[in-house]
Amino acid sequence: MAIEVIPTGAALGAEVRGLDLSKPLTDDEFEAVQQAWYDHIVLLFRGQKVSDDDLVRFSKRFGELDIAPASATDMAGGQALSRPEIWIISNVVENGKPIGALGDKEAEWHTDMSYVAEPPMASVLYSLEIPSKGGDTSFANMYKALEDLPDDLRAAVENRIVNHDASTTSVGELRAGANAVLDVRTAPGAKHPAIRTHPATGGKALYLGRRLNGYLEGYSVEESEKLLDRLWAHCAKPEFSWTHKWQLGDLLIWDNRCAIHRRDSFDGSERRVMHRTQIKGDAPR
Ligand code: SIN
Repeated sequence: MAIEVIPTGAALGAEVRGLDLSKPLTDDEFEAVQQAWYDHIVLLFRGQKVSDDDLVRFSKRFGELDIAPASATDMAGGQALSRPEIWIISNVVENGKPIGALGDKEAEWHTDMSYVAEPPMASVLYSLEIPSKGGDTSFANMYKALEDLPDDLRAAVENRIVNHDASTTSVGELRAGANAVLDVRTAPGAKHPAIRTHPATGGKALYLGRRLNGYLEGYSVEESEKLLDRLWAHCAKPEFSWTHKWQLGDLLIWDNRCAIHRRDSFDGSERRVMHRTQIKGDAPR
């Protein structure tokens, strides 16, 4: 069956049809997927039945994997038994312990693990259990956000560095072992250029990490807060985004170098279980 790439029609995202990801991709198939990914930033594969081994094998076609990020709580059960490169995202509690991270709360706009020196270039997320409603995941195109940035904001971020805080998860919880940030200028994490160049496409994209405890270096805290509020309001405009409503067996891959994402909250009495891998990237430049 030929591979079909069907764009969402929004600012990013496409569905790829004609592939069974439980089987290894041929080189031609992989090249087609990689090109579609560069073109559309987020790819959706529906109706997949993949094991953790399949998920890892598919993810490894793109590069070496990162181990899962630190979560707010010490995981038990599934997380401990799973492979270290698979991050379980779930609200399910078994024997009094969460089996995964992020619970049922809203996860704010962010790019994955930008608080490390070499953040993952991509994340792959596979749905094993989903609630009847809520828990949708939205993505926004940071090439377009940069292109459409008002001139004064562009001048304010050009050649600037952002400090990316490592202390909290995307649902705003302190990670295990982290201390609350009292001064955003000294928040632990990583410093990256506010505008980065994608190493494969050559495109320039805004790279802000996440709003909470972010700091735009070279400004007072007050100025940085005002600029970051305006920048994040701009990035969150609907014209840059696409929202994915999950079905069972959906698998998404997104490019953390040129997209941000967020997740809606959902009813905590329902179960949501997702498995994620992270593909290693390089230092943003
Ligand atoms: C994430 O990777 O930030 C979580 C996305 C989701 O749970 O849909």
